[in-house]
Amino acid sequence: MSARIALCHLDDLPLDEAKAFTVAERSLLVLRLGPERVRVYLNRCPHLGTPLHWEDGAFLDAERAFIRCATHGALFEKDSGLCVLGPCRDEALWHLDSYINEGLVYVDPTELPAPRVRID
Ligand code: FES
Repeated sequence: MSARIALCHLDDLPLDEAKAFTVAERSLLVLRLGPERVRVYLNRCPHLGTPLHWEDGAFLDAERAFIRCATHGALFEKDSGLCVLGPCRDEALWHLDSYINEGLVYVDPTELPAPRVRID
């Protein structure tokens, strides 16, 4: 059963830019790849499970060609979320389907994985 919720407005996302939004207490990375094209990933590196963004909120490398993990610098393809360089090479970011309707970006939070349980 779909439980879509509005995540943001397309106007909140400059072209070729990525931003973090929170849904169901989980941080998501929303990347705008075209006028009506976005990709949504869980903001969690597959290497250690840390957030991907840098202190200033940036997600992309200097050339804006890849998503870059702030912890160890792994590079992920923007379109697929696949890691192409770094300690989690060949693993991928967790992708959520997104839907655009009347300028709003929707996601289904039931597509999120279960939160990681920390065992000390
Ligand atoms: S935590 Fe992202 S590359 Fe290590």
